[in-house]
Amino acid sequence: MSDAPWWRRAVIYQVYVRSFADSDGDGIGDLPGVRSRLGYIADLGGDAIWLNPFYPSPQADGGYDVADYRGVDPMFGSLADFDALTDDAHRLGLRVIVDLVPNHTSSEHPWFRAALAAPPGSAERARYIFRDGLGPGGDLPPNDWQSVFGGPAWTRVTVDGRWYLHLFAPEQPDLDWTNDEVGDEFESILRFWLDRGVDGFRIDVAHGLAKDPALPDIAGGHPTSGPAPAGHPHWDRDDVHEVYRRWRRVADSYGRDVAFVGEAWVDSPVQLARYLRPDELHTAFNFDFLLAPWDAARLRSVIDASIEALAGEGAPPTWVLSNHDVVRHVTRYGGGDIGLRRARAAALLMLALPGSAYVYQGEELGLPQVTDLPDEALQDPTFLRTGGADRGRDGCRVPLPWSGDAPPFGFGPPDLGVGGAVPGVGGADPWLPQPAGWAGLTAERQASDPRSMLSLYRQALRLRKALPGDSPLAWMAASSGPGGDAVLAFRRGPGFACVVNLGDEPVDPPADVGPDARVLLASGPLGDDGRIPGSTAVWYGGEG
Ligand code: NOJ
Repeated sequence: MSDAPWWRRAVIYQVYVRSFADSDGDGIGDLPGVRSRLGYIADLGGDAIWLNPFYPSPQADGGYDVADYRGVDPMFGSLADFDALTDDAHRLGLRVIVDLVPNHTSSEHPWFRAALAAPPGSAERARYIFRDGLGPGGDLPPNDWQSVFGGPAWTRVTVDGRWYLHLFAPEQPDLDWTNDEVGDEFESILRFWLDRGVDGFRIDVAHGLAKDPALPDIAGGHPTSGPAPAGHPHWDRDDVHEVYRRWRRVADSYGRDVAFVGEAWVDSPVQLARYLRPDELHTAFNFDFLLAPWDAARLRSVIDASIEALAGEGAPPTWVLSNHDVVRHVTRYGGGDIGLRRARAAALLMLALPGSAYVYQGEELGLPQVTDLPDEALQDPTFLRTGGADRGRDGCRVPLPWSGDAPPFGFGPPDLGVGGAVPGVGGADPWLPQPAGWAGLTAERQASDPRSMLSLYRQALRLRKALPGDSPLAWMAASSGPGGDAVLAFRRGPGFACVVNLGDEPVDPPADVGPDARVLLASGPLGDDGRIPGSTAVWYGGEG
């Protein structure tokens, strides 16, 4: 076992609190619910949890509109619940990562309320980005920037006709990070949670904090979302790095292994690596891996580019297949049986790679995207702001199915039936409806089935702990014969090999796997002759 810091190879289980487990029967997941199910995450083999925002919030964007950075929304519990959760997690050997949202506050944050109440040019306004509009009467937005959720990135205030910037929803005004007060406030917020014992922070929109002070038009030259190209006026600008240098000094001053993970949508692994310089963040999400199609050559080049660019900074790569913002990968990979087979193989690929990995709640159950949520159930601002053209992200946020044969599948207190009556007392429906067809996907059902997705993840995470954490990846020559070019095969040290057949036809294991290799784990049944069927991954042990 290596004594490298935990975050260099951890498996971090992402908890979307609202949809994980509901302790009080109001249909909404909460911190006591998470606490009651920590044993499940520990049994699964997670090393850490990342909690999506649970702070007081009007929930205009699933809690990414924070009204108080030092509290817990009553809907999710209390600070005492958070402390109890953290203590229990630590007792179970799980680290705790919280979500930090520094690019914008909620429009209900006391700072923004004060800004609206104060005159233009005041110190209260200077924490945000207020500008005069263009055109006669200032009726046009100050520039052409667009919100990631659709529509203009500016909203006009009625009191005096000025406009404020929001790269996301209007309820999420962007902070002005050139204002020292903003930097000081976030240092204090970091310290608040570090003092409570958290082990790390996931940094929301880490590439967005710095804006070109001239606020120039984009003029169609740059995309609003997705990877940020060089010279973009509000994504991935150099000034943002100074923020992370300061935060790193804060984290280091605690003398324990605190880890930052940045959510930075940038143009290339080389740009990403700049966030991981030794005096900045520790890790960052690798969205290139998530975005890559089910194609051996593309995945291999993403894997190589990620490892290589980050190694230059001594930073470990990270791997992620799903999260609360993207279509679940069972569905992305084709859905149905083929989507499941590929998702099983992808899990073994991801978990065999060097570095750390993220498991989004429910992927270990093989949950698909829910694509038929009724319009009236949808809550993601994207749906409304695009006039329904984009159905938004609710389909990957449907509450987990834990047990039983019908909704709410044990999401709420165990004695609840379907759609019980009194919200707040018990029995409210889950905040998003679960498909009736999920009975076969509950954690309870899968726990006793050795062929289930849950069993696959459990075995993989257990075996992964024995993998040589620091051993680099060494590609092996592909399988010979037809279908060989659809195979990814690599070793991690002499005693472990991973082979993934991304094609449809069975292939022989590559010759380098060696005749004496043992199958440690396979994502699906292998042929009697040891051939690897299509959409299947195998872990081998023993010398090649
Ligand atoms: C990224 C978060 O993951 C997403 O859910 C949120 O909508 C945006 N940042 C804005 O905070």
